[in-house]
Amino acid sequence: MANIRSRSGLLWKKWGRECMFFATGFGFLLIVLLPSLNSWKKESDMIPKHFPGTSPGDLVDLTLLQSSKVKGAVCLDGSAPGYHLQRGFGSGSNYWIVHIEGGGWCNTLESCSLRKNTALGSSTFMEKQVPFSGFLSSNQSQNPDFFSWNKVRIRYCDGASLSGELEDEVQGYGLFFRGQRIWRAIMDELLLKGLANAQKALLSGCSAGGLATFIHCDDFRALLPKGVTVKCLADGGFFLDEKDVSGKRSIKSFYHEVVSMQGVSKNLRKDCVSRVQPSQCFFPQEFITGIETPIFIVNSAYDWWQIQNILAPDDADPHNDWLKCKQDIYNCNLDQLKVLHEYRSSMLDALEPFQHSKNGGMFINSCYAHCQTWKDKTWHSPESPRLNNKSFYSKVN
Ligand SMILES: *[C@@H]1O[C@H](CO)[C@@H](O)[C@H](O)[C@H]1NC(C)=O
Ligand SMILES: *[C@@H]1O[C@H](CO)[C@@H](O)[C@H](O)[C@H]1NC(C)=O
Repeated sequence: MANIRSRSGLLWKKWGRECMFFATGFGFLLIVLLPSLNSWKKESDMIPKHFPGTSPGDLVDLTLLQSSKVKGAVCLDGSAPGYHLQRGFGSGSNYWIVHIEGGGWCNTLESCSLRKNTALGSSTFMEKQVPFSGFLSSNQSQNPDFFSWNKVRIRYCDGASLSGELEDEVQGYGLFFRGQRIWRAIMDELLLKGLANAQKALLSGCSAGGLATFIHCDDFRALLPKGVTVKCLADGGFFLDEKDVSGKRSIKSFYHEVVSMQGVSKNLRKDCVSRVQPSQCFFPQEFITGIETPIFIVNSAYDWWQIQNILAPDDADPHNDWLKCKQDIYNCNLDQLKVLHEYRSSMLDALEPFQHSKNGGMFINSCYAHCQTWKDKTWHSPESPRLNNKSFYSKVN
């Protein structure tokens, strides 16, 4: 840990124009990032609709699991869940990446009802095709390690990181909380479609999907025979249990509401819920050291989504003192920067136990970024940063 602090501390002054990088762990994944400090991103960017530079050949069709409706695996509105599958080829024919998309959570019947009218709660609104880019790209020069693998992008339509489970429909709202069943139904289907014969498999996810990756990593491992190489990659999913700028634990309350309302507790890790209040086990820091499958964490210590929604949510900032700073970190004053640094320190502290884990690795950078593996430029491009000469070279977008 001292290592993290001193290295990044030295580089601290560069933050703002350049990004600092720190990485540790096993080299099982090549993590390449390009910071894009100058572009402030809105929450809607968590669900990429358009990737500049994505070739049309990378548009992949949506498959809906109509048959899973009988098993009760449905989106918030009762519609069939879905995924996009691009078949692998050549040397990648028996290798699989399964990626879970992100998109926040809903914590009240009202907010979940609003979500029902979007692709995050209903397959009626899902795009019929989505681009596959970054580490889902099939272009060898953009994605040298994984281009030929079978690639799946699971659509996120339950509002609780694929882990809620309530038997009954919520009457009067027409809502279903069935994330866990969606997860199982999609895994069953993928196993039939060839995942069962995988020689290597990687579960990944971004944001709320990154959290789902932490939660389901060992489940995923358990689906496949022992001899198969299985690993996980959680991108932008290390949401921190931290106070907001008004001193309230707003993310904790928020997670508590999500977990209680959607019946998530029974699907969280047993080794965690036996120790602490179940909703606490929605925070990866509470259970990462218990994950047995090799897992790699990619996260910014100044993750913009976390800064905007955990550290300085609108409710905690009634006078909008943080508004300009959140929109563009160059507008932050010294006091605000200090608070940001403290947030980073808390994140590094929370990651410390994991740093000693034999099964893990992490890449914690300091860009104002959130979800960095699926963008062609951040994943792998000539300008991408290098680490230990594994394609690492930092350059601001
Ligand atoms: C693959 O990516 C490279 C580098 O971005 C690009 O020059 C090339 O046109 C792409 N190939 C295809 C078939 O899209
Ligand atoms: C670093 O990587 C480049 C190409 O990726 C290679 O040409 C070079 O020899 C490597 N340098 C070292 C020190 O390994």
